[in-house]
Amino acid sequence: MKKETKPVDALSEAEAKTELERLATEIARHDEAYHRQDAPVIADAEYDALKRRNLAIEESFPHLRLADSPSLKVGAPVAEGFGKITHRVPMLSLDNAFSDDEVRDFVHSVYRFLGKLPDQSIAFTAEPKIDGLSMSIRYEDGKLVSAATRGDGTIGENVTANVRTISEIPNTLPEGAPSVVEVRGEVYMAKEDFLALNERMAAEGKQTYVNPRNTAAGSLRQLDASVTASRKLRFFAYAWGEMSDMPADTQHGMIEVLSSWGFPVNPLTKRLESIEAMIDHYNGIGLARGDLSYDIDGVVYKVDRLDLQGRLGFRSRSPRWAIAHKFPAEKAATRLTAIDIQVGRTGALTPVARLEPITVGGVVVTNATLHNAGEIERLGVKIGDMVQIQRAGDVIPQVLGVVSSPDDAVEFEFPATCPCDLKTPVVREETASGVEGVIRRCSGEFACPFQRKEHLKHFVSRKAFDIDGLGEKQIEYFYDDETLPIRQPADIFTLKARDEANGLQRLKNREGYGETSARKLFDAIESRREIALDRLIFALGIRHVGEQTAKTLARAYGDWASVHEAALEIAGGDQVAMEEMDALDDIGPAVVEAVGRFFGEPHNVDMVDRLTAELTILEAEKPSQDSAVAGLTVVFTGSLEQMTRDEAKAMAERLGAKVAGSVSKKTDILVAGPGAGSKLTKAQELGVRTMDEDGWFELVGVAPGR
Ligand code: IVH
Repeated sequence: MKKETKPVDALSEAEAKTELERLATEIARHDEAYHRQDAPVIADAEYDALKRRNLAIEESFPHLRLADSPSLKVGAPVAEGFGKITHRVPMLSLDNAFSDDEVRDFVHSVYRFLGKLPDQSIAFTAEPKIDGLSMSIRYEDGKLVSAATRGDGTIGENVTANVRTISEIPNTLPEGAPSVVEVRGEVYMAKEDFLALNERMAAEGKQTYVNPRNTAAGSLRQLDASVTASRKLRFFAYAWGEMSDMPADTQHGMIEVLSSWGFPVNPLTKRLESIEAMIDHYNGIGLARGDLSYDIDGVVYKVDRLDLQGRLGFRSRSPRWAIAHKFPAEKAATRLTAIDIQVGRTGALTPVARLEPITVGGVVVTNATLHNAGEIERLGVKIGDMVQIQRAGDVIPQVLGVVSSPDDAVEFEFPATCPCDLKTPVVREETASGVEGVIRRCSGEFACPFQRKEHLKHFVSRKAFDIDGLGEKQIEYFYDDETLPIRQPADIFTLKARDEANGLQRLKNREGYGETSARKLFDAIESRREIALDRLIFALGIRHVGEQTAKTLARAYGDWASVHEAALEIAGGDQVAMEEMDALDDIGPAVVEAVGRFFGEPHNVDMVDRLTAELTILEAEKPSQDSAVAGLTVVFTGSLEQMTRDEAKAMAERLGAKVAGSVSKKTDILVAGPGAGSKLTKAQELGVRTMDEDGWFELVGVAPGR
């Protein structure tokens, strides 16, 4: 049990002294976990809270400050440890394929997108997927000027000093290299270096690392670069960011250039012309995997020609021209000790298997998902069974099946009511065809405290409103509070006003708060009253609307009024509004339906209205405002001859246009190829600007085939 924390201004001198000692030890322990093991055991926000409490006590009792207080240490803070670098070209991730068929689908999608016939073959490169951490290293006039981690893809950590200590990474480029070069690749640690380091750590009585990847990450994130230098880190180059000039026009050509500049490139990289050759290469690398001196977790295929890569472009977070063919996940067996039911934001009841702790691929696993009631039935799993579990990447481990079942194993009975106090009946969801589905939901929706709490937790989470000092724990606390409760998002923003009605007495006198912490929470809330549109959309917790979808919606609609209007129109069954949303890249009918459903519920509409009345919602940044079609709605019809429909759509969206499937009075441009029929007639009737494909290329100033 965690000790309850007393407000700072209620501490006696003796208590303050003990508390400062306790905090110093605890913070040191977390510093160690984060910086040395790269395996933090608490969230950044909790860590920050410890540091803030330490500081607050020192402010009240300056004479008690310890000589080695955490507040005096340079570089200890997690968040401020490294400066930030904004990537000029975002560092994206890759889509995954888990089977040969998914690789075939990927290759076919490339052909389909480009509209090439299968006999005009497209070559791919196949490279091992190194299990390390990606790095972007910038050179100006041949000199290494900065190096940054991937971070969230847009902003990374500045680790220049540390990267300079990696001997495999050149500090200068040879004469003739372009003036601006950003080399990207993977920093990793070889297996034997990892083992040797761990032996040393163990000999010194220090905590050992779990696997080479975490070790590489931990070694790089040393604020003291001399520690990084003492660890043997290595590098493989396989990509690039900003380049003032391109020295080659294929992926394999670029790899050769990078190699000629002195970067290590992976010797198992190959240029291949057919799906079968790609899969053969993957199988070959899979066999050799154990003998390699470094960890890999798959093979990355990339379209070789860079002009084709350019045409294929990107989806929201990954390129259309590449895919990672992953190796099968790691498995292990352990005992299932209990099954708990968790109620999610959408009311879905998820059974979670509690496991005897076991290490799978270097990570200790104690929980695994059982997905739903049907899965428990299908696996025939009972409490007490030995089960096989699987962990793939960073996703929550899953139970694969029963290894053995002792006589005293107990069958799990799925509850018929929600574990919340209301004991609301659990309903089985029906599928589109009316068949009873496997997902059981609490029917309580907003009456179910679990769901409301989960909604609120999502609302304040890092990628949503991200309010300092208002995390999951505090939501639980405020939700159940009688005098100053938070039961819906708007309540967060009325918290201070409600407390003011009581002379600002309630929060500061609450357990765990004091004058300072209450003020800090109010300030943190205040600073979030102004919010980016995509964060707001994501925060609403609409089913199927994740971070990326929220970004897409924000970008496409531009401001809250337009999003709101479209959502209400969709809820009202407006076909045009539905088609417009459906036409957006990466958005399908499930999202449109979920948006319609959400805004079709009067209490959701009310909740959103109350919330938005409290906020200033920033407009989304529109992509390429300077293009001739930015902000316009375009419809393509007829057969296009110089690009496929998908390519046309992607190009229009890249240039900031919205692509719709049907002509309406909102249409700005109709691009009509040969054979255009009713859409052309309708556009002419409505007086919509109409052009052919050449006209389109002329308007946007892009040459066909680019
Ligand atoms: S290409 C735009 N090539 O895998 C695509 N990535 O899951 C840029 N990775 O963040 C990535 N080996 O850290 C690429 N040969 C390889 C790779 C590779 C490892 C990592 C990289 C990336 C992650 C995506």
